Amino acid sequence: MNITEVKAVISGGVSGLGLALARKVVAGGGQAVLLDVNDEAGAAAEDELGTAVHYCHTDVTQEQAVTDAVKWTVNKLGSVNVAVCCAGVVGAGRVLGREAPMALDFFTKVIQINLVGSFNLTKAAGAAMESNPRNDDGERGVIISTASVAAFEGQIGQAAYSASKAGIAGMTLPIAREFARIDVRVNTIAPGIFMTPMVAGMPEHIQESLGASVPFPSRLGKAEEFAELAVHIMENSYINGTTIRLDGAVRLSPK
Ligand SMILES: NC(=O)c1ccc[n+]([C@@H]2O[C@H](COP(=O)([O-])OP(=O)(O)OC[C@H]3O[C@@H](n4cnc5c(N)ncnc54)[C@H](O)[C@@H]3O)[C@@H](O)[C@H]2O)c1
Repeated sequence: MNITEVKAVISGGVSGLGLALARKVVAGGGQAVLLDVNDEAGAAAEDELGTAVHYCHTDVTQEQAVTDAVKWTVNKLGSVNVAVCCAGVVGAGRVLGREAPMALDFFTKVIQINLVGSFNLTKAAGAAMESNPRNDDGERGVIISTASVAAFEGQIGQAAYSASKAGIAGMTLPIAREFARIDVRVNTIAPGIFMTPMVAGMPEHIQESLGASVPFPSRLGKAEEFAELAVHIMENSYINGTTIRLDGAVRLSPK
């Protein structure tokens, strides 16, 4: 798929990795609808990126809202051929916390936003892409989710987050196999530690030690590097059914 043809729906698209991707898509001549719950950041993204970008308030945990948002995207852009799931929360907490064991509600909320939210968008986008004409590469669409290296080596305090991200990595291949029938590719990116608002909120010394823990290059990832990989996945029609680590060879320690 050529970047100029991209009509993308990006969840979590008003901040961090999703916003960097929206910027790259627009710079390449594509268009995007950004789904998020942060209306202020949504308005700021529209102001910055102009008419090629629209914001649509959408809570990814709400099945019908996501279905409606994808329909809204198709109305706004004419069709949708790319979906990228970036909406997510960190959800750190020990199973046996200092005060009490983790509340099930907390665990479930992280799963709902990170995993179920990605499923909701994948399902709605796949249904919308099914009726697209095939492009020059013979495909009707590309779906990309965002896991984390915590899917594979979660730290103490990441039980909920790791479970949600491992779920995303786990559903990638079965959905890619299923969506082969509709000529839609399905992939996942598993980022290491990236400098986004999610990480910028941490104390500086922790950010520095996180950067130093990366073998090479020994620094935090840049959101633009995530965007570059996502665009490469859109453009390279042989990448399918896989989860790609983007992490400077970092392997998270137990804590
Ligand atoms: N930054 C990192 O180091 C890193 C590493 C690995 C994976 N990730 C993953 O990348 C994705 C993007 O992270 P980021 O660092 O850009 O974070 P971010 O906080 O900058 O962006 C996440 C966005 O998701 C939105 N969001 C949260 N709950 C939502 C909901 N219910 N419905 C719709 N939108 C919702 C937020 O409002 C926010 O705009 C997340 O899934 C995160 O888990 C990030």
